[in-house]
Amino acid sequence: MKKITSVLLASALLGAALAGCGGNNNNAANTANSGAATNSANAGKTTELPKVGVAIYKFDDTFMTGVRNAIETAAKDVATVDIVDSQNSQPTQNDKVDLFVTKKYNGMLINPVDRTAAGVIIDKAKVANIPVVFLNREPLPEDMKKWDKVYYVGAKAEESGTMSGQLIVDYWKAHPEADKNKDGVLQYVMLKGEPGHQDAELRTTYSIQAIEDAGIKVEKLAEDTAMWDRVKGQEKMAAFLGSHGDKIEAVLANNDDMALGAIEALKAAGYFVGDKFMPVVGVDATAPAVQALKDGTMLGTVLNDANNQGKAAITVAALLAKGETPTKENVGFDITDNQYVWISYKKITKDNVADVK
Ligand code: GAL
Ligand code: CA
Repeated sequence: MKKITSVLLASALLGAALAGCGGNNNNAANTANSGAATNSANAGKTTELPKVGVAIYKFDDTFMTGVRNAIETAAKDVATVDIVDSQNSQPTQNDKVDLFVTKKYNGMLINPVDRTAAGVIIDKAKVANIPVVFLNREPLPEDMKKWDKVYYVGAKAEESGTMSGQLIVDYWKAHPEADKNKDGVLQYVMLKGEPGHQDAELRTTYSIQAIEDAGIKVEKLAEDTAMWDRVKGQEKMAAFLGSHGDKIEAVLANNDDMALGAIEALKAAGYFVGDKFMPVVGVDATAPAVQALKDGTMLGTVLNDANNQGKAAITVAALLAKGETPTKENVGFDITDNQYVWISYKKITKDNVADVK
């Protein structure tokens, strides 16, 4: 009993502290406070931007940082945004959503910590009549059907999986020496993102599917999650090298951070010097990955378009927040099934690295 009370107290204090922190980089709140001054300065101008609460699953994620910056940039003329860090905790994110509701924001843009928690967020949004756009972590179809003011902006995970597999296929076909043990089979290791995340599950399945579809036999030597993380990617790859060493003929990673970690472990094992090479593929086309492509350590990646995902998401959220219906014309991207905006992926190698902006 005593323990429960102190836990409750601690979380209440934490909640208060977090709410306090939010206020510091809280653009929407700041604007609200200085609203009077702004209005008199703009004498007569009454058009106010809608306020949109944005909750990112965690700020400490390379790709989502790119999306977050894109949201901020694209928001300039369309919405006043309050962007908060859910610190990889669904309860924390739920508290943030409650705050958005209390503050009577006009719209919400949510990158869920746990995509299966979207249903609860949609229920709250519907009761408060605050339209909600989800981003990067796709809610389950049954949750999307709960309300027509719910949208999802993201990219088709299958597509990125297929493309990363094709990068390996192209290499394997052009380099007979890639079959190190000459058994006609591609021995690979897989670094997975967060289990349950559509991008982790589908990239894993579809990348291997693409290799098999090209008529190449595969053998999985090892597979483990490195949770999208560079340091974990390095540790897991070091472990794979410890148990399989030179038997490994390719490394597939569900994102660039893990691929870059794997490259570090490979470097430590003597790879990328002389003709000791290992094909490593990732997904995202982050700045450090682009550098690795140029250096010749990363074979290829798949552009996960942070700029267009951020732009489309805040555009849809701002339109809904103003009570308008998003269309291809006012959003600038196709809308599928009245609720989805899909941003395309693109294969990137050293040869077309300039396509990554
Ligand atoms: C993926 C991306 C990963 C990670 C994840 C977070 O789309 O490829 O690097 O950012 O989203 O949900
Ligand atoms: Ca082989």
